[in-house]
Amino acid sequence: MNICKAKNYQDMSRKAANIISAQVIMKPHCVLGLATGSSPIGTYKQLIEWYNKGDLDFARVMSINLDEYKGLSPENPQSYRYFMNTNLFDHINIDKARTFVPNGLEPDPEKACAEYEEIIRKSGGIDLQLLGLGRNGHIGFNEPADAFARETHCVNLTESTIDANKRFFESEDDVPRQAYTMGIGSIMKARKILVVVSGEDKADALKATICGPITPQVPASILQLHNDVTIVADEAALSKM
Ligand code: GLP
Repeated sequence: MNICKAKNYQDMSRKAANIISAQVIMKPHCVLGLATGSSPIGTYKQLIEWYNKGDLDFARVMSINLDEYKGLSPENPQSYRYFMNTNLFDHINIDKARTFVPNGLEPDPEKACAEYEEIIRKSGGIDLQLLGLGRNGHIGFNEPADAFARETHCVNLTESTIDANKRFFESEDDVPRQAYTMGIGSIMKARKILVVVSGEDKADALKATICGPITPQVPASILQLHNDVTIVADEAALSKM
């Protein structure tokens, strides 16, 4: 694992955006695995800035997002499709028809997940997967569990995740209890992985990810087995190392 130390959130975002930019410049038709949450927002802002300066071209890029709440429509401001549109896709020249997020409105989990795996398979594989880290060590919505899930599946969100994500909703009751997420196996197949981590509330999870045993109780710990992982973390997130 390559650990890249950033001063703060802004520095982390710029460093992560540099890595994504290099990917897009070196392979204009690349497949980006993208993530939601507050961690990557600064990275997306930086990419938009460089795009506006004419430094980046996303015309041939394809994107595959990690996860989506089950039951939320793309128009729902809390959905991850809406997040991606407003925080990135609406501001760059990516072809929206080539941006994928699991279908939160598909009520049949088997169908939703099989369709998504097919999209990943047909893409030819993810070149660079961007990840945030949950406070409990989750990646995507792969929550601590007794085993690593391989493919896209439907998960019951843990109390810790519902608590962490309720800030985006009017009340805790509005947070969906289930989500569709790419599996650990799907994530591990990405050629390169980039993790962005900021803030002291992630310090325990980051330490367990990097230094702890590889266990499905800390889903991100499996990243120790990937041969091309870069973690860009700020000083606060690295404070327990
Ligand atoms: C959510 C998302 C994850 C994200 C995590 C951390 O649960 N499903 O993909 O990494 O939250 O979010 P944040 O970056 O807001 O701390």
